[in-house]
Amino acid sequence: MQLTMPGADPSITPPDKSIGRIVSVTGSKSIVLLDCPHESRGRMNERPDMGTLLAIDTAKTVVLAIVSALSVPVPAQRDGDAEIRIAELGLVGELWRDDSGHAGVFARGVTVYPSLGDRARVASKAELEAAFCGDPKRSVRIGCIRQDDTIPAMVRVDELLGKHLAILGTTGTGKSCTTALILRSILEKNPAAHILLLDPHNEYATAFSEWAEVITPRNMQLPFWLLNFEEIVEVLIGDAARKTEIEILQELIPIAKARYNAGRSRDNLRRTFPEPSRFTVDTPVPYRISDLTGLIDERMGKLENKKDLSPYRQLKARIDSISQDGRYAFMFGSLTVYDGMTQVLSRIFRVPVNNKPITIVELTGLPTEIINVVVSVLSRMTFDFAHWSEGKVPLTLVCEEAHRYVPAMPRLGFEPCKRAIAKIAKEGRKYGVALCIVSQRPAEIDPTILSQCNTVFALRMSNDRDQEIVTSAITDTGSGLLEFLPALGQREALAFGDGVALPVRIKFDELPADALPRSTTAHFTEHWQRSIGDEGFLEQVVEKWRSSDIGAGGDAVQQATMLAEGMSIEPSTVIPEPPRMPEPRRPDQQPAQRMRDDAGRAPPSQQGSTRSPSLRPSAYQGGPAGAPRRPGEQAGETSGEADVPGAALKSLRDRLIQRQR
Ligand SMILES: Nc1ncnc2c1ncn2[C@@H]1O[C@H](COP(=O)(O)OP(=O)(O)OP(=O)(O)O)[C@@H](O)[C@H]1O
Ligand SMILES: [Mg+2]
Repeated sequence: MQLTMPGADPSITPPDKSIGRIVSVTGSKSIVLLDCPHESRGRMNERPDMGTLLAIDTAKTVVLAIVSALSVPVPAQRDGDAEIRIAELGLVGELWRDDSGHAGVFARGVTVYPSLGDRARVASKAELEAAFCGDPKRSVRIGCIRQDDTIPAMVRVDELLGKHLAILGTTGTGKSCTTALILRSILEKNPAAHILLLDPHNEYATAFSEWAEVITPRNMQLPFWLLNFEEIVEVLIGDAARKTEIEILQELIPIAKARYNAGRSRDNLRRTFPEPSRFTVDTPVPYRISDLTGLIDERMGKLENKKDLSPYRQLKARIDSISQDGRYAFMFGSLTVYDGMTQVLSRIFRVPVNNKPITIVELTGLPTEIINVVVSVLSRMTFDFAHWSEGKVPLTLVCEEAHRYVPAMPRLGFEPCKRAIAKIAKEGRKYGVALCIVSQRPAEIDPTILSQCNTVFALRMSNDRDQEIVTSAITDTGSGLLEFLPALGQREALAFGDGVALPVRIKFDELPADALPRSTTAHFTEHWQRSIGDEGFLEQVVEKWRSSDIGAGGDAVQQATMLAEGMSIEPSTVIPEPPRMPEPRRPDQQPAQRMRDDAGRAPPSQQGSTRSPSLRPSAYQGGPAGAPRRPGEQAGETSGEADVPGAALKSLRDRLIQRQR
């Protein structure tokens, strides 16, 4: 019996489209003895193919099974002689029929098994639709299914994100495009999403244009006091063996926090602070670097044995050098220490969304050890934010090149970073945090984290070890689809897990040119036809190269914006529009990226890179961004006069200092 299409006349018996009969059923597998070629003549388009979805009718259900192998156990000597042909099937789902035999509800797994002798046929279009299309309100389209390109491949957003996902495949197979495609499809239907994407190759900004808040090393603001103890130890000490220095920090940081807070206790605006005595080394409240170094000096002054001074001296020297290192300007470079935690959270996690539901954190340009700390802080804050907001703001953390941050080898990677991502993988579901792992080296990812990713999109993969790992990470392997891994084409993937209705081979939709990540393979033959002329090309390269080392803390507009917001002042009322100079446009940059917000300012992502000569950090003597400080001037707090455009930042700073007094 074939599933009746709605509206079809039940009195007309549909033609027999069966192709064979069941001769074996074991667990979730079955074998079909295919009809002889002469019996199926005229039904050549009903021939089963690898990966085809077959339907087997039972009394109340239609069992859906995927062809995982085709063989002729004993081939005939001559063409045309009779021979036995079999198809091996993985039983993957079933459709329940209502009393009239209409397409019913689809369910994964099989409760009513086919019997020996039952006939199998290629699933009809109506059956494919019933199985794959699901609830259109909660699903988004990402492509079509390979078996029938008129049937859309849909992903179920809640299941996809609720239980984490992984996008895996050899380099160049389309992981970044797939990530962009899936996220764009989700964003189209969910404009108030909260997605944080860690982008180690600066490739995604072009794929999301006006939807994205792009945080670059230039406009990043991640104050050092937001770091927990492990992270600040990694930044300031960097060697777990230097126990004495770690102990000194552990003792002094809470005191520095209490000192800062004591100075502000008269300020009734500081309502979000707990009691100073309750500060731990991990409490995310501001403190001053000068208080910390001052406390180190005090301790040194009290020491009688001069031999004990060495760890204090080393720690102080390290704090001084790191806090003045331009590469760390996004942590230590703020002119004034102020409690901007809500502004940092607002910007990173898009609360309110402000029409930019995705934050892209571009990491190229940061040294590896700093990237580790930044990824660690962001991952930990993602979980902590979800935890303390009691899951009211579901978040998704997309981790590109995940093998770098959660490597399988115990000694590799940065332990706090691994722990932060592992925590999301293990407990994130309860707090509404989804993890999306993207990697070209599945075998190098911590297997416990990979196995938490319920939905897997496996693109072409040729390495045996990677294939093994993917196989072991996937729960519904019964379909036999994994055999296709090395043979998948461009824009094709196998999808497994709760995010898709059934294990399925997908052909992804093609992303339009203006939505592609900036990751295209170089066109050697095109570029090697003509020499690049002397049009300032090398000068531009050198300028970008040199300025990439200059951190963001000196971005006056960005600082002023955050400072104003931290003081509950509308930034556009106090910060003048900086003079603009045209910037060399990247060939792939979209005009939409240059749009301004309601207040007439360029998005913060561009503020950092839209530089006038006077705004350039190198010309900005007051900030630590690679610019020299006056002797005795300390990072991370109020410094002397600054050469910044307009008086906005200075006046804001003065107002803040007045408030603090
Ligand atoms: N859905 C798609 N739409 C359009 N083009 C695609 C799509 N998927 C893949 N491509 C093409 O494949 C190329 C490689 O894709 P992509 O950069 O996403 O690969 P990747 O697996 O992320 O590579 P890497 O491992 O180097 O990061 C792209 O330049 C693009 O031309
Ligand atoms: Mg990629």
